[in-house]
Amino acid sequence: MHEPLRSLRRSVLYVPASNERALKKTSSLACDAVIFDLEDAVAPEEKEQARERLRAFLAGSARPQCEIVIRINSLAGEWGTEDFLAARALKPDAILLPKVEGPRDILDADDSLDETDAPTSLRLWAMIETPRGILNAGAIAELGRDPAARLTCLVAGTNDLVKETNISVTGGRGYLLPWLMQMVLAARAGNVTVLDGVSNNFRDPDAFGRECTEARAMGFDGKTLIHPAQIAPANAAFAPTREEVAEAEAIVAEFAKPENRFRGVIALDGRMIERLHLEMAEGVLAKARQIKEKET
Ligand code: COA
Ligand code: MG
Repeated sequence: MHEPLRSLRRSVLYVPASNERALKKTSSLACDAVIFDLEDAVAPEEKEQARERLRAFLAGSARPQCEIVIRINSLAGEWGTEDFLAARALKPDAILLPKVEGPRDILDADDSLDETDAPTSLRLWAMIETPRGILNAGAIAELGRDPAARLTCLVAGTNDLVKETNISVTGGRGYLLPWLMQMVLAARAGNVTVLDGVSNNFRDPDAFGRECTEARAMGFDGKTLIHPAQIAPANAAFAPTREEVAEAEAIVAEFAKPENRFRGVIALDGRMIERLHLEMAEGVLAKARQIKEKET
């Protein structure tokens, strides 16, 4: 049996809810998901206006067709509760909670959603962006196995992690990698998707492409983005390549031959291919189909 296909989340764009031009732009963008941000991208003086702008925009006719997520301020702070109630009323696909540090943060949000009779289709995403969040990533992600907990995606907050830990990223992401890998492992154990943090430099597409390729090789499902120019490279990097699709087709075809139907392991082009590789190949083909369907 295969696990059901995960939602496509190759390119997930943050959009400051305070920025009217950016809000409008989202209806024409090819990203898999949008995170309308009420938190870090919005200055304290603009919090209320941003909430109102988002309310007006999502109630209007230009609401984007992709997956819609709203990032709220911390529920423990002064804007969180109002954000939460506004977000819930705007019927996004998910609410993104900032600075999640343990399972309790998710369970408390679940309780609040249940108390306001939010539909079970409303999911929660969790920012992992503090030392405690990384240390508790396994316990947080484990909630993904309980549908009542609503958790469906972990998002790496790399800028906050750098700030909180004092590591340097001037020479690249080397010091971040162990924590990011910890998140990927946690997400796989909990069966939730997991997104890499943002690249702040949006004027260097080559460096961005390399970071996406690295993120994909690390096991991430997609990348969070800050600028529309980052969408196409992310969509490309997190899709199976033509070579991967061709290889997957060859594996499926080989196992389908009558003489191989009941074999557990076969040789193909000098390499050992087991049934687990067949499952992986079927996963690659399913993802390629999912992308094709979306793009037609
Ligand atoms: N979402 C939607 N549209 C965006 C966008 C975004 N994140 N970032 C830029 N755009 C739009 C601009 O509004 C502009 O639209 P226009 O052609 O209608 O004027 C167009 O894309 C080109 O923008 P550009 O001039 O290249 O960038 P900028 O200088 O206006 O903005 C940033 C640069 C970084 C301030 C902006 O991209 C941004 O705010 N990104 C998101 C930041 C964020 O959410 N951070 C929190 C999470 S880390
Ligand atoms: Mg943050």
